[in-house]
Amino acid sequence: MSSFEYRGGALHAEDVSLTNLAEKVGTPFYCYSAEMLRKAYTDFAGAFAGLDVTVCYAVKANSNQAVIALFAALGAGADVVSEGELRRALAAGVPADKIVFSGVGKTRDEMDMALRADCGQFNIESEPELAALSEVAASLGKSATIVLRVNPDVDADTHHKISTGRAGDKFGIELDRIREVYAAAAKMPGLNPSGLAVHIGSQLTRLDPFRDAFERIAALVRELRADGLHVDRLDLGGGLGIVYRDEVPPVPTDYAEIVRDVFGDMDVALTFEPGRRLTGEAGILVTRVIYVKESGGRKFAVVDAAMNDLIRPTLYEAWHDIDPVAQPADDAARMPLDIVGPVCETGDVFAVQRDMPPLAAGDLLAVRSAGAYGAVMASTYNSRLLIPETMVNGSQEAVIRPRTDYDTLIGQDVVPGWVTAQ
Ligand code: LLP
Repeated sequence: MSSFEYRGGALHAEDVSLTNLAEKVGTPFYCYSAEMLRKAYTDFAGAFAGLDVTVCYAVKANSNQAVIALFAALGAGADVVSEGELRRALAAGVPADKIVFSGVGKTRDEMDMALRADCGQFNIESEPELAALSEVAASLGKSATIVLRVNPDVDADTHHKISTGRAGDKFGIELDRIREVYAAAAKMPGLNPSGLAVHIGSQLTRLDPFRDAFERIAALVRELRADGLHVDRLDLGGGLGIVYRDEVPPVPTDYAEIVRDVFGDMDVALTFEPGRRLTGEAGILVTRVIYVKESGGRKFAVVDAAMNDLIRPTLYEAWHDIDPVAQPADDAARMPLDIVGPVCETGDVFAVQRDMPPLAAGDLLAVRSAGAYGAVMASTYNSRLLIPETMVNGSQEAVIRPRTDYDTLIGQDVVPGWVTAQ
């Protein structure tokens, strides 16, 4: 199901015409469908009915306050990886006890802030981090609920830059060190070791790497329990893929079936940290063609969005479907062209030799599946303004983050007097 469909010849977001929205907010802009966000959440969470499960939305995928608040209203917790994300989750109304603090490099200041906020769980990625949290928690007279993030040495079979669970990746603690570290943690002040965490990567389109990793975790739980250690929670991470092109990602119920199979009789509370799956397909990037040009025998559409707005194509060679907002005729001739941004980098490309119907300056395009790792990865490179984010809900529409302005962009810099003194 997509809420981005053609109606009366124009692409709509739910009941809102994207042509009209583009007139109002200007291009480029992000647009999220509240209906699709809600459906993605209820499909995911609903798949685990009957199990003790908390879905902690991975805020990094899309950290707009409206998006976090939408999930919070549906009962979601949050998975955060920085003080900024923690503050966002709290501000959006996520209860502190449903917040998981992940991340390979939490600083002592961040730990201090999270402990004072009574953050529900810390996912520990190394022995030095364990020692630091113990010290900070003990000094505050707090007991931090922790789980150890296991590096299970499983290849997630996804893009190498978003694979996290292979031996040698920077994440987690090696599987065969876990028993020792867990036992040590149980004796450290300020810590309440409660279980394990695993996250093997993102945009997984097959289930067997999950099963592999989960089975390793289950075996480890049995060993820890045999050692007399207390284990009552497992955090199984995120990673479930979405459709960018022609992938057939697993449905949540099949994913949940594996979880039931492996952990169903283990008497553990389960946490999941989905990000992309909840937001990716629920967002598009709308951009306008500035020029169409030909050079070196190739045809280019130069659009007003760029790699600073959506970096995935250039960073991961990621494919995003791109459709004209004005519905092309069924029999419109298609021809290959490159869709490129205005940034002064050869890599500022959204699509290479993509078959598109004829395009002209002024046409609007929708870059699909841009709701995850889109706006959050934006920068102001080339001194371009951060673009607006909008959300629609039926016929309602709202700007959930306005375009920044040049005074703010330039005004943040400080020119010391001695720079220009002769
Ligand atoms: N939990 C942890 C510990 C993570 O590191 C991540 C993602 C997630 C959960 C959420 O994973 P998801 O369900 O979204 O796959 N910028 C990249 C993706 C980076 C993912 C980083 N970690 C991209 O655009 O593809």
